[in-house]
Amino acid sequence: MAAWREGAHALVIGASGGIGSAFCAALADRSDIDRILGSGRDRSRVPEAVESIVLDVTDPDSIASAGQAIRAATERLDLVICCIGVLHDADEGIAPEKRLEDIDPAAMTRHFTINALAPLLLARELAALLPRRDPCVWANLSARVGSIGDNRLGGWYAYRGSKAAQNMFTRNLAIELGRRHRGLACIALHPGTVATDLSAPFRSAASEGVMTPDQAAGQMVKVIEALKPTDSGKFFAWDGSEIPW
Ligand SMILES: NC(=O)c1ccc[n+]([C@@H]2O[C@H](COP(=O)([O-])OP(=O)(O)OC[C@H]3O[C@@H](n4cnc5c(N)ncnc54)[C@H](OP(=O)(O)O)[C@@H]3O)[C@@H](O)[C@H]2O)c1
Repeated sequence: MAAWREGAHALVIGASGGIGSAFCAALADRSDIDRILGSGRDRSRVPEAVESIVLDVTDPDSIASAGQAIRAATERLDLVICCIGVLHDADEGIAPEKRLEDIDPAAMTRHFTINALAPLLLARELAALLPRRDPCVWANLSARVGSIGDNRLGGWYAYRGSKAAQNMFTRNLAIELGRRHRGLACIALHPGTVATDLSAPFRSAASEGVMTPDQAAGQMVKVIEALKPTDSGKFFAWDGSEIPW
């Protein structure tokens, strides 16, 4: 069984980002996907090939109006990929913490709002559009550093903590939504290290194993299209290997 039906309707949340826009391009190449909606804070940064939705997840009114716009645009979503995220923001004075003394409550709150709470609120808005019986996918872009079991280096409190919280919410969603959407695979997905604005300050020219957004999206589409409902509630890396929570 494929992970979505022929003529699928897809939504890429964060279509303006490095990985989100690469997902839009990868999905646009597929003959089994009829429509792609994509969100961004600024409509002009959403790829032209997709139907744009304006969304700022720090604003509850924006989440509600984006939900309304998506429900007005389509009666179903067979594939949702949530690609929003924050790790640093010079304008907001946000940078990953190296030690306890670096912790800033405002930065912590922003991380949890964008990385953890937003995918959950969007699921609350949009879950009713998932098919009841047909195969479908909800994939939240997480990060390996959000794995508690895999944490050996410490640091990055806000990013690690917010991704760990996101992972718990993804697992909860897989359980709750799986009861009424029998064909659903709801997963967390680690994209690998990908050359985007988010990773830029932490990569050097010599960094090994860095993928382009197109390479990462291509790999992750392979993982997503092979999903079955029995994979729901799991945490996968870009190469299909499972990551401990
Ligand atoms: N790149 C990596 O190496 C890497 C590694 C592990 C995990 N990840 C995860 O992969 C996902 C995609 O990251 P990326 O590398 O593509 O980063 P990116 O290029 O910086 O894209 C981030 C996306 O998040 C959106 N966003 C940020 N704040 C928002 C807000 N308040 N409201 C709505 N959207 C907001 C951005 O929208 P705007 O365009 O409006 O700013 C953009 O679409 C993230 O969840 C990230 O944590 C990335």
